[in-house]
Amino acid sequence: MNKTLVILAHPNIETSRVNRRWREELLRHSDRIDVHELYAAYSDWQIDVWQEQERLERYDRVILQFPLYWYSCPPLLKKWFDDVWTYGSSGTKLRGKSIGTAISIGDQKANYLPEGGVSFTVDQILAPFKASLRHVGAIELPPFALFGASFRVSDQEVENSAAAYVEYVSNRAGAACESI
Ligand SMILES: Cc1cc2nc3c(=O)[nH]c(=O)nc-3n(C[C@H](O)[C@H](O)[C@H](O)COP(=O)(O)O)c2cc1C
Repeated sequence: MNKTLVILAHPNIETSRVNRRWREELLRHSDRIDVHELYAAYSDWQIDVWQEQERLERYDRVILQFPLYWYSCPPLLKKWFDDVWTYGSSGTKLRGKSIGTAISIGDQKANYLPEGGVSFTVDQILAPFKASLRHVGAIELPPFALFGASFRVSDQEVENSAAAYVEYVSNRAGAACESI
Protein backbone atom coordinates (compact mmCIF):
# COMPACT_ATOMS: atom_id res chain seq x y z
CA MET A 1 0.00 0.00 0.00
CA ASN A 2 1.29 3.49 -0.82
CA LYS A 3 -0.15 5.00 2.34
CA THR A 4 1.99 5.30 5.45
CA LEU A 5 0.83 3.73 8.70
CA VAL A 6 1.51 5.66 11.91
CA ILE A 7 1.37 3.62 15.11
CA LEU A 8 0.70 6.21 17.81
CA ALA A 9 1.34 5.34 21.46
CA HIS A 10 0.57 8.11 23.94
CA PRO A 11 -0.97 7.17 27.32
CA ASN A 12 -2.61 10.60 27.78
CA ILE A 13 -3.23 11.97 24.34
CA GLU A 14 -5.99 14.33 25.53
CA THR A 15 -3.55 16.23 27.77
CA SER A 16 -0.73 16.01 25.23
CA ARG A 17 0.45 19.14 23.49
CA VAL A 18 2.89 17.84 20.87
CA ASN A 19 1.61 14.38 19.94
CA ARG A 20 -1.99 15.59 19.90
CA ARG A 21 -1.08 18.36 17.47
CA TRP A 22 0.92 15.91 15.36
CA ARG A 23 -2.06 13.55 15.31
CA GLU A 24 -4.38 16.37 14.25
CA GLU A 25 -2.10 17.19 11.34
CA LEU A 26 -1.80 13.55 10.29
CA LEU A 27 -5.58 13.13 10.26
CA ARG A 28 -5.85 16.02 7.80
CA HIS A 29 -3.91 13.91 5.32
CA SER A 30 -5.92 10.72 5.49
CA ASP A 31 -5.50 10.34 1.72
CA ARG A 32 -1.93 9.25 2.32
CA ILE A 33 -1.63 8.55 6.06
CA ASP A 34 -3.45 6.11 8.36
CA VAL A 35 -3.17 6.54 12.12
CA HIS A 36 -3.58 3.64 14.53
CA GLU A 37 -3.72 4.63 18.21
CA LEU A 38 -2.68 1.81 20.51
CA TYR A 39 -3.98 3.30 23.76
CA ALA A 40 -7.37 3.98 22.18
CA ALA A 41 -7.57 0.54 20.57
CA TYR A 42 -6.45 -1.42 23.62
CA SER A 43 -7.64 0.21 26.83
CA ASP A 44 -7.68 -3.33 28.26
CA TRP A 45 -4.13 -3.99 27.00
CA GLN A 46 -5.30 -7.15 25.23
CA ILE A 47 -3.61 -6.66 21.90
CA ASP A 48 -5.21 -8.42 18.94
CA VAL A 49 -2.00 -9.90 17.59
CA TRP A 50 -3.46 -11.28 14.37
CA GLN A 51 -5.16 -7.99 13.51
CA GLU A 52 -1.99 -6.02 14.25
CA GLN A 53 0.15 -8.31 12.10
CA GLU A 54 -2.38 -8.22 9.29
CA ARG A 55 -2.43 -4.41 9.48
CA LEU A 56 1.35 -4.15 9.34
CA GLU A 57 1.50 -6.42 6.32
CA ARG A 58 -0.61 -3.94 4.34
CA TYR A 59 1.93 -1.10 4.55
CA ASP A 60 5.45 -0.68 3.24
CA ARG A 61 6.16 2.40 5.36
CA VAL A 62 5.43 2.52 9.09
CA ILE A 63 6.20 5.25 11.64
CA LEU A 64 6.15 4.62 15.38
CA GLN A 65 5.13 7.84 17.15
CA PHE A 66 5.48 8.30 20.90
CA PRO A 67 6.65 10.63 23.67
CA LEU A 68 10.00 9.66 25.18
CA TYR A 69 9.29 8.21 28.63
CA TRP A 70 12.25 7.17 30.76
CA TYR A 71 14.47 7.16 27.68
CA SER A 72 12.23 4.61 26.06
CA CYS A 73 8.70 4.20 24.73
CA PRO A 74 5.44 4.09 26.71
CA PRO A 75 4.73 0.56 27.98
CA LEU A 76 1.88 -0.38 25.63
CA LEU A 77 4.16 0.12 22.65
CA LYS A 78 6.72 -2.19 24.26
CA LYS A 79 3.96 -4.78 24.77
CA TRP A 80 2.95 -4.32 21.14
CA PHE A 81 6.52 -5.17 20.12
CA ASP A 82 6.55 -8.18 22.44
CA ASP A 83 3.22 -9.53 21.22
CA VAL A 84 3.17 -8.55 17.55
CA TRP A 85 6.75 -8.71 16.32
CA THR A 86 7.11 -12.42 17.21
CA TYR A 87 10.73 -12.65 18.25
CA GLY A 88 12.76 -15.23 16.36
CA SER A 89 12.70 -16.83 12.96
CA SER A 90 8.94 -16.57 12.44
CA GLY A 91 9.07 -12.79 12.50
CA THR A 92 9.91 -12.41 8.83
CA LYS A 93 6.92 -10.45 7.57
CA LEU A 94 8.46 -7.06 8.32
CA ARG A 95 11.42 -7.75 6.05
CA GLY A 96 11.98 -4.92 3.60
CA LYS A 97 9.49 -2.52 5.18
CA SER A 98 10.65 1.02 5.91
CA ILE A 99 10.11 1.79 9.58
CA GLY A 100 10.91 4.97 11.51
CA THR A 101 10.38 6.54 14.90
CA ALA A 102 8.86 9.96 15.62
CA ILE A 103 9.43 11.07 19.18
CA SER A 104 8.69 14.07 21.31
CA ILE A 105 11.48 14.60 23.82
CA GLY A 106 10.85 16.60 26.97
CA ASP A 107 14.40 17.79 27.51
CA GLN A 108 16.40 20.12 25.29
CA LYS A 109 18.74 18.93 22.57
CA ALA A 110 21.89 20.23 24.27
CA ASN A 111 21.43 17.64 27.02
CA TYR A 112 21.34 14.77 24.51
CA LEU A 113 25.04 15.02 23.82
CA PRO A 114 27.95 13.05 25.35
CA GLU A 115 28.86 16.15 27.37
CA GLY A 116 25.23 17.08 28.12
CA GLY A 117 23.08 16.31 31.15
CA VAL A 118 21.67 13.10 29.69
CA SER A 119 25.06 12.14 28.23
CA PHE A 120 23.55 9.87 25.60
CA THR A 121 22.49 10.90 22.12
CA VAL A 122 19.02 10.14 20.80
CA ASP A 123 20.70 7.83 18.33
CA GLN A 124 22.12 5.84 21.25
CA ILE A 125 18.82 5.86 23.16
CA LEU A 126 17.05 4.49 20.11
CA ALA A 127 19.46 1.54 19.88
CA PRO A 128 16.87 -1.08 21.01
CA PHE A 129 14.50 0.08 18.27
CA LYS A 130 17.23 0.11 15.66
CA ALA A 131 18.41 -3.35 16.70
CA SER A 132 14.81 -4.61 16.54
CA LEU A 133 14.42 -3.25 13.01
CA ARG A 134 17.60 -4.99 11.96
CA HIS A 135 16.45 -8.19 13.62
CA VAL A 136 13.31 -8.34 11.49
CA GLY A 137 15.08 -7.16 8.34
CA ALA A 138 13.26 -3.82 8.12
CA ILE A 139 14.80 -0.71 6.57
CA GLU A 140 15.57 1.83 9.27
CA LEU A 141 14.38 5.38 8.58
CA PRO A 142 16.12 8.32 10.22
CA PRO A 143 14.14 9.43 13.29
CA PHE A 144 11.98 12.52 13.53
CA ALA A 145 12.34 14.26 16.87
CA LEU A 146 11.16 17.38 18.62
CA PHE A 147 13.27 18.39 21.61
CA GLY A 148 12.13 20.65 24.45
CA ALA A 149 8.64 19.18 24.22
CA SER A 150 7.90 19.50 27.94
CA PHE A 151 8.14 23.27 28.37
CA ARG A 152 10.61 25.01 26.14
CA VAL A 153 9.11 24.58 22.74
CA SER A 154 6.90 27.49 21.63
CA ASP A 155 3.45 27.19 20.08
CA GLN A 156 4.94 28.29 16.77
CA GLU A 157 7.62 25.62 16.97
CA VAL A 158 4.98 22.97 17.64
CA GLU A 159 3.10 24.25 14.57
CA ASN A 160 6.25 24.11 12.47
CA SER A 161 7.03 20.62 13.70
CA ALA A 162 3.53 19.42 12.79
CA ALA A 163 4.00 20.59 9.21
CA ALA A 164 7.48 19.04 9.03
CA TYR A 165 6.17 15.83 10.56
CA VAL A 166 3.56 15.30 7.85
CA GLU A 167 6.29 15.75 5.25
CA TYR A 168 8.45 13.20 7.05
CA VAL A 169 5.63 10.68 7.36
CA SER A 170 4.73 11.19 3.71
CA ASN A 171 8.34 10.63 2.68
CA ARG A 172 8.46 14.11 1.14
CA ALA A 173 11.46 15.26 3.11
CA GLY A 174 14.65 13.65 4.29
CA ALA A 175 15.71 13.19 7.88
CA ALA A 176 14.06 15.76 10.06
CA CYS A 177 15.31 16.43 13.52
CA GLU A 178 13.85 19.53 15.05
CA SER A 179 15.91 21.12 17.75
CA ILE A 180 15.53 23.59 20.53
C1 LIG B 1 6.49 9.22 32.67
C2 LIG B 1 7.28 10.24 31.91
C3 LIG B 1 8.59 9.99 31.60
C4 LIG B 1 9.35 10.92 30.87
N1 LIG B 1 10.64 10.63 30.55
C5 LIG B 1 11.36 11.51 29.83
C6 LIG B 1 12.70 11.21 29.47
O1 LIG B 1 13.24 10.13 29.76
N2 LIG B 1 13.40 12.14 28.76
C7 LIG B 1 12.85 13.34 28.38
O2 LIG B 1 13.53 14.13 27.73
N3 LIG B 1 11.55 13.63 28.68
C8 LIG B 1 10.81 12.74 29.38
N4 LIG B 1 9.51 13.02 29.69
C9 LIG B 1 8.86 14.21 29.10
C10 LIG B 1 8.06 13.79 27.85
O3 LIG B 1 8.93 13.29 26.85
C11 LIG B 1 7.26 14.97 27.34
O4 LIG B 1 6.33 15.31 28.35
C12 LIG B 1 6.51 14.64 26.06
O5 LIG B 1 7.40 14.33 25.02
C13 LIG B 1 5.66 15.82 25.64
O6 LIG B 1 4.85 15.42 24.55
P1 LIG B 1 3.25 15.57 24.65
O7 LIG B 1 2.95 17.04 24.73
O8 LIG B 1 2.73 14.96 23.38
O9 LIG B 1 2.79 14.80 25.86
C14 LIG B 1 8.75 12.12 30.44
C15 LIG B 1 7.40 12.38 30.77
C16 LIG B 1 6.68 11.45 31.50
C17 LIG B 1 5.22 11.75 31.82
